[in-house]
Amino acid sequence: MIALIWAEDQNGLIGADGQLPWHLPADLKRFKALTTGHAVVMGRKTFAGFKRPLPRRTNWVLSHQQLDLPAGVRQLHSLTELRALAAKTPTETCFVIGGAAVFAAVLPFADRLYRTRIQATFSGDTWMPAIDYSDWQCVQHEVGIRDEKNPYPFEFDDFERC
Ligand SMILES: NC(=O)c1ccc[n+]([C@@H]2O[C@H](COP(=O)([O-])OP(=O)(O)OC[C@H]3O[C@@H](n4cnc5c(N)ncnc54)[C@H](OP(=O)(O)O)[C@@H]3O)[C@@H](O)[C@H]2O)c1
Repeated sequence: MIALIWAEDQNGLIGADGQLPWHLPADLKRFKALTTGHAVVMGRKTFAGFKRPLPRRTNWVLSHQQLDLPAGVRQLHSLTELRALAAKTPTETCFVIGGAAVFAAVLPFADRLYRTRIQATFSGDTWMPAIDYSDWQCVQHEVGIRDEKNPYPFEFDDFERC
């Protein structure tokens, strides 16, 4: 199964200068809880922002180029390779973790969405591709708990393809 996981602001913004536009530890915690132990697939530019593999996950980087990747990170050269990876372990979740170019490419054949929506607006340069939510059913909704470290209103929604 292929799942997209991301956080966006009220305008669908997801990135600023190669990084997240906000600091929201509650979202990072949920991301870690959901993805740990699974495969994570990211675009070359998102990986450039991380610099090192995410621990306790199988890290895959999607690129058309031949990349020189650090130990513990493997490359996918195409969507065909990504689909083959997911098909090899159909009961496992393969998390596609961004960025916008990879989300746009994978959305047509994704099975599940994990969305964090931050009810605020930020500045940045990268937006989530448009999603037709009539194709998706919300199967879980949770309102995030605001506190001094998580100062914005935010919500978690999980969707399955209808
Ligand atoms: N808010 C969030 O949840 C979230 C999550 C992740 C990332 N982000 C943000 O998103 C931004 C980066 O997004 P981005 O759209 O600029 O870049 P990206 O999607 O991370 O990476 C784009 C690169 O991935 C490779 N790629 C994409 N589609 C491919 C395909 N079908 N086959 C092979 N390779 C493919 C290409 O690499 P080559 O050019 O090498 O071929 C492409 O240039 C950053 O600001 C990051 O912080 C936000």
